[in-house]
Amino acid sequence: MKDQIGKSLTLEQLQVHVQDLGHWELNEDLSRQLGEFKKMPALYRLALNELENKIETLSTEWKMRDGYSPIEHIKRRIKEPKSILQKLERKGHAFSFENIERHIHDIAGMRIVCAFVKDIYRLADHFNAREDIRVLEIKDYIAHPKPNGYQSLHVIVAVPLILLEGTRWVKAEIQLRTLAMDFWASMEHILYYKFDQQLPPHVAEELKSAARAADELDKKMLRLRREILELSESAEQ
Ligand code: GTP
Ligand code: MG
Repeated sequence: MKDQIGKSLTLEQLQVHVQDLGHWELNEDLSRQLGEFKKMPALYRLALNELENKIETLSTEWKMRDGYSPIEHIKRRIKEPKSILQKLERKGHAFSFENIERHIHDIAGMRIVCAFVKDIYRLADHFNAREDIRVLEIKDYIAHPKPNGYQSLHVIVAVPLILLEGTRWVKAEIQLRTLAMDFWASMEHILYYKFDQQLPPHVAEELKSAARAADELDKKMLRLRREILELSESAEQ
């Protein structure tokens, strides 16, 4: 999830995208709405800033208390306008802000990479308990990996932005993964990128077995951590 913040299209480029999609009629109203649409990334960028601040505070606090932070690193991105338009069309909705806000949950995207699986659930529980983060939906691809082997916890949240007009809750998709899951997903994306055919069965099976290997690695690291913790506890006694 590369940081694409700051990437802004001209109205003409947006109109070309709409014409490419060939679904919506490019009339005066749509042009006006597209003009407004250009301002949306700013709102979602602010929402990601808010979220990142909260997570940074949490990470520092966790580190002070437990000696390590469950958060290894964070990436963020804003969905490109063209992808937003394509997704809206794919889902069969007419172009409007209401439809974008209601149906597209991942305009603002954040990926949090953790050391251990249990850290992921600790973080998700923490989000659930906070009043300044609303958890709207959770998709648990760790307990239920996708058929190709993909694992991550996807949490759709809303965060409050205090604007001149008042408080506005803005949605973001947070993907939580371990380092091993992130390695697999990044590699799968690289291997699969722009490959739009069905994978031959033996390749699909190899990919799935690589996901299982990543899962094993996570479990092994957790076992090692437990053992090392026990050793250091017994050395203290
Ligand atoms: P889309 O957002 O349209 O993709 O569908 P959805 O809302 O059902 O989302 P889903 O929870 O399936 O996945 C959303 C995001 O998770 C994607 O944009 C990717 O970043 C990531 N993702 C999901 N499945 C895979 C996968 O099989 N491989 C990789 N590398 N990433 C995935
Ligand atoms: Mg999604």
